[in-house]
Amino acid sequence: MRGLVVLVTLACFATAQHQALIDYLERRLLTIEDRISLWHEQTARYASELRELKKQMVSHLENLDKEKESLRMNLDTVGTRVDRVERELDYLETQNGAQPCVDVDDKLIEQQVTLVKEKQQSKYLKLTDCSDMISSIKAMKILKRVGGPKGMWTKDTSRPSGKVYIFNGTSEDTIKEFASVQEFSRSLGLSQSTALKLPSTWSGTGHVVYNGYVYYIDQPEEVMVVKYDTRNNSVTDRAVFPVQDHVPVYSLNPETVMDLAVDEEGLWAIYATKQNERHISLAKMDANSLDIEQMWDTNCPRENAEAAFVICGTLYVVYNTKQPGRSRVQCVFDVNEMVTSEDAPLVYFPKRYGSHSSLKYNPKEQLLYAWDDGYQILYKLLMKKKLEI
Ligand SMILES: *[C@@H]1O[C@H](CO)[C@@H](O)[C@H](O)[C@H]1NC(C)=O
Ligand SMILES: *[C@@H]1O[C@H](CO)[C@@H](O)[C@H](O)[C@H]1NC(C)=O
Repeated sequence: MRGLVVLVTLACFATAQHQALIDYLERRLLTIEDRISLWHEQTARYASELRELKKQMVSHLENLDKEKESLRMNLDTVGTRVDRVERELDYLETQNGAQPCVDVDDKLIEQQVTLVKEKQQSKYLKLTDCSDMISSIKAMKILKRVGGPKGMWTKDTSRPSGKVYIFNGTSEDTIKEFASVQEFSRSLGLSQSTALKLPSTWSGTGHVVYNGYVYYIDQPEEVMVVKYDTRNNSVTDRAVFPVQDHVPVYSLNPETVMDLAVDEEGLWAIYATKQNERHISLAKMDANSLDIEQMWDTNCPRENAEAAFVICGTLYVVYNTKQPGRSRVQCVFDVNEMVTSEDAPLVYFPKRYGSHSSLKYNPKEQLLYAWDDGYQILYKLLMKKKLEI
């Protein structure tokens, strides 16, 4: 009997405990349910807030885009205006360049003419029939951008075929040929050209193409001019340039040790040596034999020179600064002594990209073929007679 009582008590106790546990669990479940519904509510609110925020962001972004666009348009107009002002400045500078005051009577001019003629005859007989000098740069045309920052391009300066040659970079053994300036201009790049592989490496940007021959500078140890026939791809002649201790001729283009040029009278070499290292020297070469006919030390400094060219026996040296600015002809040297730096006009180039790595004169067209930071540019020159200063 006693045992039964104990058993019943125990069972009651167990039931009560069980009930308490169930109650506890129910309470817990209720709170969890409450919290779950709270979370649901909060999540829904957050989601709608997020949607709202997103909407606001999108409209802000749209506004920003619109503002950016109008800013860009404003900048474009400012850019064009700056360009125009710069062109006007270019024009004014070429107009007001160091023009000498000329006020001499006819007799004096006559005297000077005869004097000049005498000088000319005694100095350099061959150059008597060419008397043009630069007056200004009349126009420019940007044709293309192919290749690297440095290089040179030119048209064959006297062959009627008018083929165009591209020397990309400053040291290679291949050049690119196009049938004409139009073809080059229409091409999609250098891949559409004919590649001519030369028998040795050319160095710098001092090469010319003249009468179907490429005259290129090769400098294994000494500075050598190689004459290469483009019609049958063979070397016609090569000659070591007969001076020692070459230094790069233009301080702003140190890859170019010697620069060849063609003018109305033929082939020239522009160079510099240690013996006269502050100034540029000039030599007239025979384009057939590569002989040197005559040499001159000019008064044109190498410092800050970037390129040069020869027109009618007058060397024009173009200067710039290390931080590329406006290129300008600031020193001239006339082998006939008809033009001096003082009475030559200060010719400014229109400012474009960087500085020129080469300027090649074409006497037939009176054009300069320029390479400016990978752009191929043509400058049309306006000429006048040397005696009309
Ligand atoms: C041109 O020369 C530059 C180096 O100056 C080189 O990086 C580039 O690949 C060359 N382009 C072509 C088409 O040969
Ligand atoms: C290449 O052609 C020129 C004339 O066109 C000729 O004088 C020369 O001998 C030729 N060279 C070779 C290697 O055929």
